[in-house]
Amino acid sequence: MQDQQTAMPNADQLAYWNGDAGDKWARLQARLDDLFAPIGAAAVAAAGVRQGDRVLDVGCGCGDTVLALAEAVGPLGAVTGVDISAPMLAVAGRRIAGRALPQAAVLKADAATEPFSPGTFDLAFSRFGVMFFDAPSEAFVNIRRALAPGGRLFFACWRPFSGNPWFHTPYKAAVPHLPEQDKPDPDAPGPFAFADPERVKRILGVAGFGDVEVAPFDATLRFGRSGDIEDALRFIVQIGPVARALATGTDAQKEAALAGVRDALRNSDGPDGIGLGARCWFVSAVA
Ligand SMILES: C[S@@+](CC[C@H](N)C(=O)[O-])C[C@H]1O[C@@H](n2cnc3c(N)ncnc32)[C@H](O)[C@@H]1O
Repeated sequence: MQDQQTAMPNADQLAYWNGDAGDKWARLQARLDDLFAPIGAAAVAAAGVRQGDRVLDVGCGCGDTVLALAEAVGPLGAVTGVDISAPMLAVAGRRIAGRALPQAAVLKADAATEPFSPGTFDLAFSRFGVMFFDAPSEAFVNIRRALAPGGRLFFACWRPFSGNPWFHTPYKAAVPHLPEQDKPDPDAPGPFAFADPERVKRILGVAGFGDVEVAPFDATLRFGRSGDIEDALRFIVQIGPVARALATGTDAQKEAALAGVRDALRNSDGPDGIGLGARCWFVSAVA
């Protein structure tokens, strides 16, 4: 844990997303984008992006939504993706350079503290990039200042871990075979920090946003092709809660955990692929 008085803001996350995690997200970009595609497409559609909008994509990672937003705003608009992860931004930069989308750009910056020019964006958007701030209300004050009067905020975040089968089902299959896992603080920066809609409303209210709405969105995420359990297993053991759990235990315990995950994936195999349910919140607000 950082000393909040002296540490750089979001120092833990900066280290995390520039270390092994950022490298993995960069390496698995195509696979992760396929996985999250149903959520990205629905979020961009629900955000009400208009031709000509100036959009800030917070925690844009490897740039998937920067590209989608750039298509949506058209040549008269602009999309600026910001992220703290150098390896992920390198991927995003290469992808943007490979497309004729001059309205898209990325910037290495902490969205919580970057001194954006006030009032320069019509929309602040994020797919899973806003749950990692040490001081969320302050971060959203900074994001709100970057929005023009009446500018909009729209982001997707996760509902609770235990209600998200795509996280929880393989994890639940693995952990009985492994040493007891740490129980994370539900409000600590991380994927589930915004699982409680009342907390989200409080944070955005304190940050000065109005008309806050939190709506459920459900999708099925595909881990891989129908019948190819080993391919899905290779993916799932590299990233996320199962990967973290498998970092503990003896070889025999890990083998038993993998067998459990394999069974869980087999039970999730269907004609459209190996799919598990994802439960998000779509959050919107006005600056
Ligand atoms: C779960 S990933 C999502 C990436 C991307 N939006 C996507 O949907 O593929 C979270 C992202 O938020 C970024 N992030 C975390 N804290 C941040 C901050 N304070 N400012 C900007 N980006 C941040 C991470 O580096 C990471 O790329």
